[in-house]
Amino acid sequence: DASDIEKGTYPHYMLKEIDEQPFVIRTIIQKYSNDNGELVIDQNILGAINQADRLYIIAAGTSYHAGMVGKNIIERLAKIPTEVHVASEFGYNMPLLSEKPLFIFISQSGETADSRAVLVQIKKMGYQALTITNVPGSTLSREADYTLLLHAGPEIAVASTKAYTAQVAVLSILAEVVARSKGLPIDVDLVHELGIVASAMEELCDTRDAFEQIASDYLSFARSSFFIGRTLDYAVCLEGALKLKEISYIQAEGFAGGELKHGPIALIEEGTPVFVLSTQENVNLPIRGNVKEVAARGANACIISMKGLEMDGDRFVLPQVHELLTPLISVVPMQFIAYYAALHRGCDVDKPRNLAKSVTVE
Ligand code: G6P
Repeated sequence: DASDIEKGTYPHYMLKEIDEQPFVIRTIIQKYSNDNGELVIDQNILGAINQADRLYIIAAGTSYHAGMVGKNIIERLAKIPTEVHVASEFGYNMPLLSEKPLFIFISQSGETADSRAVLVQIKKMGYQALTITNVPGSTLSREADYTLLLHAGPEIAVASTKAYTAQVAVLSILAEVVARSKGLPIDVDLVHELGIVASAMEELCDTRDAFEQIASDYLSFARSSFFIGRTLDYAVCLEGALKLKEISYIQAEGFAGGELKHGPIALIEEGTPVFVLSTQENVNLPIRGNVKEVAARGANACIISMKGLEMDGDRFVLPQVHELLTPLISVVPMQFIAYYAALHRGCDVDKPRNLAKSVTVE
């Protein structure tokens, strides 16, 4: 049928969509560049952001995790205080807003009801909204004042992959362009760095066998698993855990490394798989300390580090990319590990039980 043709030679949409990520990143660079090769964003959007004293990112699921990464990048490059909120909570428990808030809705589909409910609420309050979505003309796009498109192409698999990396890439471009418009010193050549990211993603897609092996070594008999990291790696750990639980039904939880000792470490048993991300220099030693803590309790730790930070015993070393952009590549092993774990268990990878691609009810 038609869907078979779209999948081409791929057994699943998810695998195809993981593989498309380097292409998506290059497409985004191109779509957001002018003829001089400079990154650009619509002037009206820039104006709205520059008038705001605080940004409120509202999203659900994987898009929320992309928002967590985006907050870091926006604050570091554009120096605008940014909060990230789960849509379903925000509407019922609105924080005290700043004087001049601007709302950024991140949604692959542009149809998530929880996010739309917040959009309706804040529009009534007289505030402006920017929607970052993959679907032109979607509800959230039509009802917001401004839209930035992801240009990721249709995402069919329920578990989101290329939309996440596209969201992070677009947020990084937004942060860079805002920083430049404010005359802030720019210490990152983003076009160049995103190009390095795309190549690194390609390298990772070519080494998928290594991740299939990791899935079988660590998850064949697992009932539960943990993902630990600090700072940006923590955000990616939440996404890695979400991917795994969504499609393999293995219980998976992401924790900030330093929080383990405050509770979650009680769950570690002999052989519990613990995936560890280490891509951030300032927390490389602290996260290694956390690995020792869980290993001492019998955990089976799988450390994925970045080149330059690797240590003996690491299971996989990621190619080096700019430290703000590591989530774009560290998420790729997480996606593959979830994919192969689900495949090995005979799960319906593209259409996991109980989940829908877009949830249009609150
Ligand atoms: C559903 C999907 C998730 C997705 C979330 C938000 O729960 O199963 O994969 O991350 O909705 O979707 P959105 O389209 O708003 O990004």
